[in-house]
Amino acid sequence: MWLKLTALMLAAASLVVLAGCAAVAPPTVAGVSLALDEPFRPQYHVSVPENWANDPNGLVYYDGEYHLFYQHNPDDTVWGPMHWGHAVSADLVNWIHLPIALYPDELGTIFSGSVVIDWNNTAGFGEEAMVALFTHNDNGRQMQSVAYSTDKGRTWTKYEGNPVLEPPANIRNFRDPKVFWYETEGEAGHWVMAVSAGNIILFFMSDDLLDWESSGGFGLTYGATCGVWETPDLFELPVDGGTQMRWALAVAIGGCAPAGGSGIQYFVGDFDGETFVSENDKETTLWADLGSDFYAPQSWSDTPDGRRIWLAWMNNWTYAQHIPTSTWRGSFSVPREVSLLTTPEGIRLVQQPIEELGQLRGEHWEWRDEVVGPESDLLDEVRGETVEIVAEFEIEDLEDSDRFGFRVRTGPGEYTTIGYGTKARTLYVDRAQSGDVAFHPAFAAIHTAGMEPVDGIVKLHILVDRSSVEVFGNDGLVVFTERIFPSSESLGLELFLDGEQVNLNALDIWQLEPVTFLVDYSGDPE
Ligand code: FRU
Repeated sequence: MWLKLTALMLAAASLVVLAGCAAVAPPTVAGVSLALDEPFRPQYHVSVPENWANDPNGLVYYDGEYHLFYQHNPDDTVWGPMHWGHAVSADLVNWIHLPIALYPDELGTIFSGSVVIDWNNTAGFGEEAMVALFTHNDNGRQMQSVAYSTDKGRTWTKYEGNPVLEPPANIRNFRDPKVFWYETEGEAGHWVMAVSAGNIILFFMSDDLLDWESSGGFGLTYGATCGVWETPDLFELPVDGGTQMRWALAVAIGGCAPAGGSGIQYFVGDFDGETFVSENDKETTLWADLGSDFYAPQSWSDTPDGRRIWLAWMNNWTYAQHIPTSTWRGSFSVPREVSLLTTPEGIRLVQQPIEELGQLRGEHWEWRDEVVGPESDLLDEVRGETVEIVAEFEIEDLEDSDRFGFRVRTGPGEYTTIGYGTKARTLYVDRAQSGDVAFHPAFAAIHTAGMEPVDGIVKLHILVDRSSVEVFGNDGLVVFTERIFPSSESLGLELFLDGEQVNLNALDIWQLEPVTFLVDYSGDPE
């Protein structure tokens, strides 16, 4: 069984027994904790308690809670009739799974979308209502609809005038509305909706979240177009943390990503409240993640400190329905802070794990100023299923080494390599021998991306969980998200070098402690 009583409930129960008839306040959080003992069950990444999950939806912060809704089939471990599952967190680290938020209805199943807080009650649903804008999918006919909640997302009412936006003529793929409030100084402001439609992102404007007017489109001949575009996200960020601003438009694409299958491209440019213009030429294709398993990311709206934080479905449509998990199939990347950085090639998106994850750090090993040779035994004493690695290498002479890096989750015949190719100047993840790779022919692969050392330095930040590896190269400029399915006995770690030597300026490794995932379905109306 995947549910067990939490210490919290046990403590509450024993209090009641001890107190006899005396009045005892009920625990504020009732629930059972998700047992994390299944094979491949992530220990600190959010995963669906049972059955199927794909895209994150409706990411919004409100009144002390980060909400994560997600595409969910509650009846099977493969994709099917879509609902919105729901989880909340006070710190983006520990999560409470809540009852399903949105069920299919007579207009169709509930595809991806977003949630906003209607601060000025523009839609008239009530003070600070949460408003969900999502795609109704009626056997392939796709339209945008609205639901609202006035009790912090616990119960939802579908708007009686749904759908609020019908597909334009001759457009079949028309989905995944991302909505936000746009305002510039001296102007009244309005709602913006970005919707994917084939190989174009369409923009709409509204004053009340209900009446939408077309305002522009972007795409068609820009970036990668060899798969259908999905789940857009659009946000403004400072460049290099300064006063100059740019807009980033992230677009999921269903095929031909660098690691094969589905992936995330992004565009950098300007948005004037009506439409987006890229500052790069049409041929420039930028990828947010060079691994296989980062899809349909969405960023939180209304974060209390203004950080832009997103997470993604940690999977790839090529093999998503075959990954060897048991009673559940679907998990998400760690939340990552997104920023923009000027590089010699132009402005690029950078991602870093959020600092809140620091609370997971347990046992710690550290090394400073080591010269590493080919037979290094530095990590012989370190074992771990869930570890964080932060390393800085200095390459003095390119001739000294061909490649170096780490092997994680090593065991008999199994390992996952995160390596840097010194001559090719590439960062790569090799999961060809990572464990169970037989469930799909496209899974066992080496994924590679160019990464120049910065002043001779190569930095690696790696997060390993029971069935994933996330790699942030050079402070998050080059990122890989990869699922792996190693045996539970493959717990070794190695530092490897092909060549004579490499300088290891600093290496920190932490065991990461499991997170609390409560499941509280007590408010389920069904
Ligand atoms: C992306 C996607 C979306 C769609 C949803 C359906 O993974 O295909 O375009 O809304 O999944 O579950």
